[in-house]
Amino acid sequence: MNDLYKRQIDYLRISVTDLCNLRCIYCMPAEGVPKMHHADLLSFEEIVRLVNVFARIGVKKIRLTGGEPLVRKGIEELVAMLRAVEGIEEITLTTNGQLLEEKASLLKHKGLDRVNVSLDTLDPEKYEKITRVGELFPVLKGIEAAREAGLFPVKINTVVMKGVNDDEVYDFAEMAIEQGLSWRFIEFMPLGGVGEEQKHYYMSNDILIERLKKKYEMVPYTHKTLISEDYMITGTKAVLGFISPLSHKFCSRCNRVRMTADGRLLPCLLSSLEYPLRDMVRGGASDEEIRKKIEEAIKNKPKEHMFQGFKPMHTIGG
Ligand code: 5AD
Ligand code: SF4
Repeated sequence: MNDLYKRQIDYLRISVTDLCNLRCIYCMPAEGVPKMHHADLLSFEEIVRLVNVFARIGVKKIRLTGGEPLVRKGIEELVAMLRAVEGIEEITLTTNGQLLEEKASLLKHKGLDRVNVSLDTLDPEKYEKITRVGELFPVLKGIEAAREAGLFPVKINTVVMKGVNDDEVYDFAEMAIEQGLSWRFIEFMPLGGVGEEQKHYYMSNDILIERLKKKYEMVPYTHKTLISEDYMITGTKAVLGFISPLSHKFCSRCNRVRMTADGRLLPCLLSSLEYPLRDMVRGGASDEEIRKKIEEAIKNKPKEHMFQGFKPMHTIGG
């Protein structure tokens, strides 16, 4: 369905758990976060019921996020259940890659189309600093496994942080070229739940594009993605994408809504509006009543963000 600003909402991001096996500096405070009670999480059956309603109003694309979606037990079964929902054309997942090597081929087999892997550095020591607890090597193995499993194209998401990893842009580009990856640079957003020092990490993607253009011939490349500015590096299969929520606000092209692991529907990442769908499901609401609530949420999707209403990122998975 369309919202009030003629944006066609056909994309639902579902957080399947608030838990994560990493503690990335841009996402969580060092001490971690209080975890939800298991009973508060939507069950797979509840998720599938809601997705059926979403599909009927025109949602075609699902992305599973977290926390870290691969720590939710049986996630591959959820993929299979969603695959069977009429109207859902694409199922993707965003992961930090720690558990991807063991899960990639099973996920593909159960019907996952693609993965995005979050990776902010290619330096093992820096990886441990950024993630606080993680190791780089399993992620690299996970990316390889995803490519081998045919989860194509594998997209890498890098949150660019000034003075932390912006010096690695050429390394990222080289790896994208070598492995035929799509590499996406995401502007750091100073959202809730992180510390004071993180506020200074922001830098505009325009600076990166300038730097990359000095070394590579970059041809603007248009495809379905609505929110990233993409380039192909001439003579290679690498695509570099730039997602710039702050320097180039893309709200007018936003096609998505989000659902938290405990079943709150969020029409906008950066607004405090939320609709508790889980409570409706558990309170015995009919599909029709749920559909009305979802339509109301979409009607109330803000025109654009004012960069307020900071929600901690670990609850919404980007
Ligand atoms: N700024 C920008 N992107 C973020 N993500 C998480 N926190 C932030 C932030 N503060 C996104 C990244 C990451 C995904 C899980 O969520 O893209 O890869
Ligand atoms: Fe869409 Fe809200 Fe993000 Fe803007 S801030 S791009 S409206 S989700």
